[in-house]
Amino acid sequence: MTEIGPLAPDEAPAAAALWAEAGLVRAWNDPHADIAAALACPTATILAARDGARLTGTIMAGYDGHRGWLYYVAVADDRRGTGLGRALVEAAEHWLAAQGTRVIRLMVRAENDAVTGFYAALGYEGSDMLVMGKRL
Ligand SMILES: CC(C)(COP(=O)(O)OP(=O)(O)OC[C@H]1O[C@@H](n2cnc3c(N)ncnc32)[C@H](O)[C@@H]1OP(=O)(O)O)[C@@H](O)C(=O)NCCC(=O)NCCS
Repeated sequence: MTEIGPLAPDEAPAAAALWAEAGLVRAWNDPHADIAAALACPTATILAARDGARLTGTIMAGYDGHRGWLYYVAVADDRRGTGLGRALVEAAEHWLAAQGTRVIRLMVRAENDAVTGFYAALGYEGSDMLVMGKRL
């Protein structure tokens, strides 16, 4: 039976492996550093789905004082299409709502636009905003 709850620090290697399998890791983002930073941040969380000891899904959520953001939404290959991605997003939505946010945003890489149907099924809408960024 699947259970969803906060990622434990000792589950970081399994989460990083899941993100690599799901194609979410980029050379400039160290997943272990991303996990440590999120777990240390009081307005961020990583939720994990588990079947027994096996990690089958993750989602990272952060509240910036205005909006809530979602990252690292991933479900293990053999569990996709079973409603687990929806359950993870809904769990993160509840967590973010409890932080005080009423607006949630997420970024989808242009080469991953196949996933927009998943977010649309969950009530997310596209926007014509250009996302800009800077590395410090
Ligand atoms: C995207 C992902 C998390 C979806 O997880 P999942 O467990 O397969 O999704 P669910 O089974 O909960 O699907 C929820 C709904 O989305 C729909 N859906 C799922 N993937 C879809 C897709 N690629 N295109 C269109 N609709 C999709 C389902 O049909 C379902 O609709 P319904 O609830 O109305 O029946 C999973 O495919 C994944 O890990 N992908 C690789 C990582 C990734 O790209 N993450 C997103 C980064 S922005």
